[in-house]
Amino acid sequence: MSVVASVNEAAQISAAAQALAEGKLVAFPTETVYGLGADAENPEAVARIYAAKGRPSNHPVIVHVAPEADIRYWVKEIPAEAEKLIAAFWPGPLTFILKRADHIPDAVSGGQDTVGIRCPSHPVAMALLRAFKDGKGGVAAPSANKFGHVSPTMAAHVIEEFEQEVQAGGPIAYVLDGGQSEVGIESTILDLSRLATHGPVLLRPGHITADQLASVLGVVPASPDAAAPRASGTLDAHYAPHTPVVQVAANELDDVVQQLQAKGQRLALMSYQAHPAIHTDAWRHLPADPAGYAHDLYAGLRELDHADADVILVEALPQEKNWQGVNDRLRRAAFDSQDVLRQLLAS
Ligand code: TXA
Ligand code: MG
Repeated sequence: MSVVASVNEAAQISAAAQALAEGKLVAFPTETVYGLGADAENPEAVARIYAAKGRPSNHPVIVHVAPEADIRYWVKEIPAEAEKLIAAFWPGPLTFILKRADHIPDAVSGGQDTVGIRCPSHPVAMALLRAFKDGKGGVAAPSANKFGHVSPTMAAHVIEEFEQEVQAGGPIAYVLDGGQSEVGIESTILDLSRLATHGPVLLRPGHITADQLASVLGVVPASPDAAAPRASGTLDAHYAPHTPVVQVAANELDDVVQQLQAKGQRLALMSYQAHPAIHTDAWRHLPADPAGYAHDLYAGLRELDHADADVILVEALPQEKNWQGVNDRLRRAAFDSQDVLRQLLAS
């Protein structure tokens, strides 16, 4: 595996595009998180992504396309809703679920009759997609992390995730380094595959908010129903570091820290407010606005995961609508929070 440090060189982009065309894997930066890419039309290449991630094969992956791509190639039909949202938000952190065209392999959609499609705005991602199959191809790419683990927002995170594969000379041909991902959490996913019966459904909240979608659609997207398409990022436990994560309300933080320290626990703390009276073994202060917090969230969790703490305490966030994306990721990272806290306090 080779890491490309200077990503603006056309020769490196075209070498990576060539590797994709040969069925190899290429990790690349997007504005949300880094993706682990393969030729979406090559089922064997897509299978290599699943194997590298340790991901169940019935979980669909998102197909990434260049800004000039004709998405008609990938889908059965493009509803007017999609056209308006594409005009407003592409290239950008918004993924659509649409009915898949018949010739698109099952492998990318986990056997479902839909396909997830997105046009990323990161310049390196766009350059790679334009170079791959003359801009007419699709790159299937989940986040470049092991299944269930924290998504990578830097090339170094990708290398950390796939250290063993690197040593073994695994299937990842290149890791393109495009600096830290601007957005920091995965794209907003909107299901437009069942418009007639369900309307637009927000499967995964993200940087592009429900309100922004509503301002273009004229309706607020619905929350997922029981029949909504499956999405692995919507599993209860996901995006989690190895150290248990516990969310604690700001006004209980002081008390919880004291109780755990009295039990001899090693603590890491992530907060968006200053808590001058609290002293933990490791501490990460994140920006107090949703975009700034999202930008640093995964890097912060990774850093605290290395602090050798018994638990990562996270100061609970405001519940306002514009915090929905980060709250969603934190809830999954801290999914059995209350049980963990009870056990730690009882130990
Ligand atoms: O920001 C992102 O979306 C990043 C970057 C790399 O583009 N990708 C990403 O991929 O987050 P992944 O695989 O980690 O999450 C994609 C989510 C999964 O929850 C998957 O189940 C869902 O999208 N998904 C993809 N295709 C789908 C489909 N046809 N129906 C329902 N859900 C789908
Ligand atoms: Mg993921």
